[in-house]
Amino acid sequence: MSLNIIILAAGNGKRMHSALPKVMHKVGGKPMLEHVLISARKLNPKSINVVINSKIENIKNSFKDYNIDWYNQLEQKGTADAVNTVLPNLEANEKVLILYADTPLIDTLLLEKFINYMPEISVKVLTVELNDPYGYGRIIREQAEEEIIAKIIEESEADDTQKNIKECNTGIVFSDVKTLRNLISEVKNENSKKEFYLTDIVSIANNKGLSVAPLLSKDFNSLLGVNDKCQLEKTEQIYQNEKRNFFLTQGVTMLDSKSIFFKGDIEIGKDVEIDVNVILEGNVKLGDNVKIRSNTIIKDSVISSKTEIKPYTIVEDSIIGHSCSIGPFARIRPNCNLEENVGIGSFVEVKASLIKKNTKANHLTYLGDSEIGENVNVGAGVITCNYDGVNKHKTIIKDNVFIGSDSQLIAPIIVEEGVTIAAGSTITDNSDKDSLLIARSRQQEKKNWKR
Ligand code: UD1
Ligand code: CA
Repeated sequence: MSLNIIILAAGNGKRMHSALPKVMHKVGGKPMLEHVLISARKLNPKSINVVINSKIENIKNSFKDYNIDWYNQLEQKGTADAVNTVLPNLEANEKVLILYADTPLIDTLLLEKFINYMPEISVKVLTVELNDPYGYGRIIREQAEEEIIAKIIEESEADDTQKNIKECNTGIVFSDVKTLRNLISEVKNENSKKEFYLTDIVSIANNKGLSVAPLLSKDFNSLLGVNDKCQLEKTEQIYQNEKRNFFLTQGVTMLDSKSIFFKGDIEIGKDVEIDVNVILEGNVKLGDNVKIRSNTIIKDSVISSKTEIKPYTIVEDSIIGHSCSIGPFARIRPNCNLEENVGIGSFVEVKASLIKKNTKANHLTYLGDSEIGENVNVGAGVITCNYDGVNKHKTIIKDNVFIGSDSQLIAPIIVEEGVTIAAGSTITDNSDKDSLLIARSRQQEKKNWKR
């Protein structure tokens, strides 16, 4: 069976009240459309066809890793019209699965079940029972034959009795190209929104003597559509709860999982502890026995085993080695590579730096564009002065250097192996190894001074 997937993403998303295209709003750190693409790709389809509008053309760049055939729906004339932009390019005898980009939590296993359900039926609709069905198309089942849908009535067209129906259209439809072309050609826009509703194909099929079968899913969480920010928040919460349960059952210790947010592709090793108010974002990998203390953000980073990230620390786009201690109140900015047993203490900011093993910078320090050797002790208040107002320059500090407190290193500079820098020095020149450098004005003493 050649399966083609059509994902509808061209709607205006007015109810989001946002300049960002609706399908680019994120759930769990990823655009809604990406969630649907990931589920679609797992079905190994022949093609994935995404319908967008010309105002959101630029979103294409965000999905280069997916093999997508893009379509432009020139005017947003409704879901039937959107599907129709794709159909002329598909083979008549092939199968089509229609998905909505605003239903991001859709699950591949459910889609597989739906595709394989009642294979002899030419049009199938995935339905769901919702306690609060407001806004959804309602499923009207054929009285005589319960397993057949007579029609779908949109919220805007429904009367009060119909509005009480709790079985809703998820928007997900399975059929073949020929049947869809045939049915959609008869859809009219004679309704309150003057749109061509895809949902009208159900009554059209019935009139033609074709049965439409519903598969009623109980998995209402994965079938929520997002039209506004309330639904976006609800969907985010469902996503987060699923991730929390997943990691708890994998053995991660969380003091209060409700306060931990997983926004991306997160991998967590064994015996990891996470305290409260933590955000893990982007591509994050936590090794075995890592401890993430409270009020911490880790983004696009690897934290290797036995490392502790202490409270109020932010780590971004960096690799932290084994058995390090980072924080509290530390900021590791992008492109840092810390080797094992490095100590970064409170109010220390590190940017684009390599710090080799056993080196410590424990208090009030800025290390930027630097390469720091092994066993270096960086005293309190040390600053690598990497910026001359125009260019950034590099600071190289070799192994076993001791930098006294409140020293500044004016880059570009190389501090040779074993050098000791006296506290309060401003270092401007390279020196030999194992030297003592003192670069500060001498103390004067005026005896019996009167103020
Ligand atoms: C739609 C269904 C409704 C269903 C609900 C499920 C129709 C007419 N209604 O309503 O029965 O219960 O989804 O969530 O199908 N889109 C386009 N082009 C358009 C219009 C929409 O591509 O011209 C896309 C949107 O980007 C969106 C999807 O189609 O991804 C659904 O459109 P939306 O306006 O959100 O429809 P709903 O009112 O949610
Ligand atoms: Ca919708």
